[in-house]
Amino acid sequence: MAKSTFFIPNENLMGAGCLADAVQVIRSKGFKRALIVTDKPLNNLGVVGKVADLLAGAGVAVTVYDGTKPNPTITNVEEGLALLRRDNCDCVVSLGGGSPHDCAKGIALCAANGGSIADYEGLDKSAKPQLPLVAINTTAGTASEMTRFCIITDEARHVKMAIVDRHTTPILSVNDPELMAGMPKGLTAATGMDALTHAVEAYVSIAATPITDACALKAVELIAAYLRRAVHDGQDMEAREQMAYAQFLAGMAFNNASLGYVHAMAHQLGGFYDLPHGVCNAVLLPHVQDYNAQVAASRLGHIGKALGADTAGLAPEAAAKAAIAAIRKLSADVGIPANLTTLGAKAEDIPTLAANAMKDACGLTNPRRATQAEIEAIFQAAM
Ligand SMILES: [Fe+2]
Repeated sequence: MAKSTFFIPNENLMGAGCLADAVQVIRSKGFKRALIVTDKPLNNLGVVGKVADLLAGAGVAVTVYDGTKPNPTITNVEEGLALLRRDNCDCVVSLGGGSPHDCAKGIALCAANGGSIADYEGLDKSAKPQLPLVAINTTAGTASEMTRFCIITDEARHVKMAIVDRHTTPILSVNDPELMAGMPKGLTAATGMDALTHAVEAYVSIAATPITDACALKAVELIAAYLRRAVHDGQDMEAREQMAYAQFLAGMAFNNASLGYVHAMAHQLGGFYDLPHGVCNAVLLPHVQDYNAQVAASRLGHIGKALGADTAGLAPEAAAKAAIAAIRKLSADVGIPANLTTLGAKAEDIPTLAANAMKDACGLTNPRRATQAEIEAIFQAAM
């Protein structure tokens, strides 16, 4: 087995009410002014005001950037960076789901290293740690609050840039399920299926280790047990809390074992049509694992068992099929559309999407190497 490194934030707060503890940690580090990076919906809901008040009460002044788009752009990073510099902020607090965390990482990385976020596309391109980032999560999830992955859309090229950099790891992650109870059903379903995709792709990744395997399988078990409940009743706090743990475990898995073609392909759909990340993943996940089954059948069988499928006595190929069927069933049960056509993808765009997916760093750890024609065929099958 190759050598491995395990990245995770130094401090990670979990559980109902931990937001208040997070503010005390921020205060204890002596920060004077935080740039809160968030989005308009959370600001309109009053969540941003609540966090700003808590910080102010702890003696930390606040500047708010709430312009983050669902697929955050280079422009978003530059706008936030301008505010950070104008007000001399000495730390960044991201508040939201994956989008504000990714945008905040872009801002904090450029604040410390200079240049444009596009300079850091790829693996470990920066020289210095980013400005300290505290990531307060409101979805479950992208796990961006605890990973070194930062996905920023280059709106001129219509592509998503993957910045995978040890220096983008937040110093503190915060998963308070009370902040997740207000998530609408569609967002709960999409972010939950994103977490499932993280666990599955990390488990079949060529960079998987016993540590990431343990995290991935536990994540799958929790998602199988609690995602339907969280979608059905957003106020089911046990389901919200367990989904917060699940997405965090899936994050621990993929932050270190990386991902595969589902994400490499979903990034292109997101960048091209501005579609929700989790929904793109959910639609592609069974199709890519169908393709992977030729080389990863036994691992997919373990996923099937963790999803609750009866795989006892089945040959690996049959167990893999059971896993894929269980993924499709979960996806349908939480209301994910059945195909990419429903999402507005067009057959004539597939060659471009596939060509860009071949260049996405997330595909490098997929267990089976694909040609562009094979990626096109997977897109076609998902139409
Ligand atoms: Fe993802």
